[in-house]
Amino acid sequence: MANKVTTINTKPFDGQKPGTSGLRKRVKVFQQESIFDAISPQGKTLVIGGDGRYFSEPTVQSIIKISAANDVKKLIIGKDGILSTPAASNIIRKYKADGGILLTASHNPGGPDNDFGIKYNVSNGGPAPENVTDSIYAKTKTINSYKILEGGSIDLSKVTSKPIQYGPTQITIIDSVTDYIELVTSIFDFDLIKSFLQNTPSFKVLFDGLNGVTGPYAKAIFLNELSLPESSLQNCVPLPDFGGSHPDPNLTYAHSLVEAVEKGKIPFGAASDGDGDRNMIYGAGAFVTPSDSVAIIADWAEVIPYFKKGGIKGLARSMPTSEAIDHVAKKKGLQVYEVPTGWKFFGNLMDAGRLSICGEESFGTGSDHIREKDGLWAVVAWLNIIAAANLPSHKHLFSSAGDFIGINDILQRHYKTHGRSFFTRYDYEELPSEDAQKVIDALNAHITNQSLNNTTHTSESTKETFTVARISSFTYTDPIDNSVSKNQGHIISFTDGSRVVFRLSGTGSQGATVRVYIEKYTKDETQLNLSTADGLGGLIQVALNISYLVEFTGRKEPTVIT
Ligand code: G6P
Ligand code: ZN
Repeated sequence: MANKVTTINTKPFDGQKPGTSGLRKRVKVFQQESIFDAISPQGKTLVIGGDGRYFSEPTVQSIIKISAANDVKKLIIGKDGILSTPAASNIIRKYKADGGILLTASHNPGGPDNDFGIKYNVSNGGPAPENVTDSIYAKTKTINSYKILEGGSIDLSKVTSKPIQYGPTQITIIDSVTDYIELVTSIFDFDLIKSFLQNTPSFKVLFDGLNGVTGPYAKAIFLNELSLPESSLQNCVPLPDFGGSHPDPNLTYAHSLVEAVEKGKIPFGAASDGDGDRNMIYGAGAFVTPSDSVAIIADWAEVIPYFKKGGIKGLARSMPTSEAIDHVAKKKGLQVYEVPTGWKFFGNLMDAGRLSICGEESFGTGSDHIREKDGLWAVVAWLNIIAAANLPSHKHLFSSAGDFIGINDILQRHYKTHGRSFFTRYDYEELPSEDAQKVIDALNAHITNQSLNNTTHTSESTKETFTVARISSFTYTDPIDNSVSKNQGHIISFTDGSRVVFRLSGTGSQGATVRVYIEKYTKDETQLNLSTADGLGGLIQVALNISYLVEFTGRKEPTVIT
């Protein structure tokens, strides 16, 4: 149908360096042609899809034209341009594509005045490693033209029964949901979950899609596969601007879930983000911090058929994530890896058969079933664990007197067995870059002169004292390809094992964001039930005092606390 290739003049663009997870910018400042210059697209098969945010459809149409002009062999596109990030990772792997272009800015707000995003994933289904993103970035600085094949628009709303020929390129439009559901149902014990839910009507479930991409996936899982009522879903129609909200599953932005769960005293609530890779597990009165979530999934992995069959090859977390999973690894005799922030760092370990379950404090949890974190995977993992915990073979492990073993029972038992890592993160968003840099420079100065070591700091309010053991900057050497990633965050370690980490976010689209991660471990039974704020109050104060963060930024309070 199409054959005329046109060359369009363009110019290099500033500020197109992909961050922790691809490029995220305001819709108005976008450019994507450079990906094609960096990946040798001739003869390749690419998967295209995204979270359906504003600007997706025209972008898919222009990717089609650029692909055809660059002799891409095959495009596999999600219907309506929709593929959740985990679904896209699965499709790349399942259909052995060479890569995929994911149109998403994850949990960032969408709409004409908000963010769009483009991310390139490679043939293992995972985010492109740094050598690839560096080369894309280099092209953005020299690009002066790109080619398109003028062939009209493709109807993205119909699944194709046979491929559409578009110049040299074959286009297949696939159902966005089917392959993902096949994958998830092959991993978990759906019969067990279903029978638990049917036999325990007081165990109500509420999933909040935050108007993001997971709606149709959640309908397939919760309504079709698990036969739950419609009332177990909310905000499950994907909207291009996410209904004007911030589709990020945490206590601040997923308030629609938190309020409904508390009001209805719902034992099991969960939410996922705009593109479906993040998750939050939240039951009435029971918030599961992501660092605990991955530790608990690792601890209970044997009840999940996928791990029962394949075993657990190893565990991992990002550096700022709490060490809760390390305690599980130790008990189980498993290796645990500590990688920099960013899911891309887990991929090599998975490909080498050394990692099965991993997570990040930033509400990302997943496994080697794909090469992205997976929001619904984590939610179903929790349902699988709870269903198993309610079997007579496990129920006796709990002292709970309620109708069923729920989230809180599992948390309490975990803390008793492994100790508790209190964890919180303070975010200072949209700071002028100079102010953020002052915080980092001061920490660098401490590293240079090592003057903090052995100094003792007392919290004014709790009177707790903490002695600094050392301060360091995190460098990661990938055990598989030996690549080195430097400056991945500043760690202040204290003699009692507590840690405070400072990092600049790599995913913001405006100004700079400083993140402060605070962690304290206890095995003291009298402390296990404290609130996070009480468990960490003293250490937070000490962290702010040492860093002069309030003085350097003028921010008395963080923008977001998770
Ligand atoms: C994305 C990435 C995660 C990362 C998170 C926070 O969700 O996929 O791997 O942990 O962003 O990154 P940031 O650089 O903003 O702290
Ligand atoms: Zn996301």
